[in-house]
Amino acid sequence: MHAQSDKTMAVIGAGTMGRGIVQVFAQAGYDAYMFDMAPEALDSAGKAIEKLLHRAVEKDRMTAEDAESTRSRIHPVSKLCDVGTCPLIVEAATERLEVKLEILQHAQKHVTEGGVLATNTSSISITQLAAAMDHPDRFIGMHFFNPVPLMKLVEVVRGLQTSDETTERTIAWAKEVGKTAVPCNDSPGFVSNRVLMPMINEAIFALQEGVAEPEAIDEIMKLGMNHPMGPLALADLIGLDVCLDIINVLFRDLGEDRYRPCPLLRKMVMAGRLGRKTKQGFFRYE
Ligand code: CAA
Repeated sequence: MHAQSDKTMAVIGAGTMGRGIVQVFAQAGYDAYMFDMAPEALDSAGKAIEKLLHRAVEKDRMTAEDAESTRSRIHPVSKLCDVGTCPLIVEAATERLEVKLEILQHAQKHVTEGGVLATNTSSISITQLAAAMDHPDRFIGMHFFNPVPLMKLVEVVRGLQTSDETTERTIAWAKEVGKTAVPCNDSPGFVSNRVLMPMINEAIFALQEGVAEPEAIDEIMKLGMNHPMGPLALADLIGLDVCLDIINVLFRDLGEDRYRPCPLLRKMVMAGRLGRKTKQGFFRYE
């Protein structure tokens, strides 16, 4: 396998999060390999990144030359072997334990000797995933936020066996791509979703119980708490299926009733109303 330079990384999965991670690394001067088995996913990711780069140039946030060199550093690949070996691989595949485990087993072979394998999981235990890897000390959670190019935070999640060196290197990578890295320990939902998901779930209970209309719930939280988006619009942005998966993990692993998923959330997911990605969730999208 061909070894890549230090300024190379790869992302597994070209979905909403994967493509965002690729974009921020490419903008920061990295050659970023974007792997996805589905050519349609690569195509759609390429178009979405292109749109954002175009917009950034149009709005004078980036020069045309910088946009061009960013483009030239993005390498979409549909075969994992084309990634070669990289010092950092970030997995951003489907949020299912079995899927992640299988992908990570393959991905770890593409990490340079001494390199780091990170996962962007929002709810699966880092310690559990790490335990199935050859080098659990060099496995870590690198949790980005949607929309990745705009959101400043990377929650750096240490599994039980993650080494201090791996944590430090991951924090340095996050800083290099312009993010603020905040470390925490592995625990269901980490910090972000432990706090965020119960709020979203409670907003859905309020809606289910007829406390207020969706617009009113969101307006109250936006204006009253200074949140940039209301919890229902945010749930639509994240994806209602993703919200349900995460709240289910909190309920199962923390074992407390306060994390029980709202029946209306389950219903929305069963109906295929998953939010922005299906053009309908608590709100409609064109
Ligand atoms: N991707 C890229 N750019 C986007 C975007 C997206 N999804 N949504 C909006 N933008 C851009 C717009 O194009 C606009 O850019 P221009 O200046 O070029 O016009 C700019 O952002 C501002 O957009 P708007 O004026 O339409 O809206 P806004 O000021 O409300 O900003 C927002 C949009 C940044 C998404 C803001 O509403 C926000 O911060 N919302 C909260 C997002 C959030 O909490 N994310 C975390 C979700 S949790 C998670 O991801 C982790 C998990 O594990 C579930």
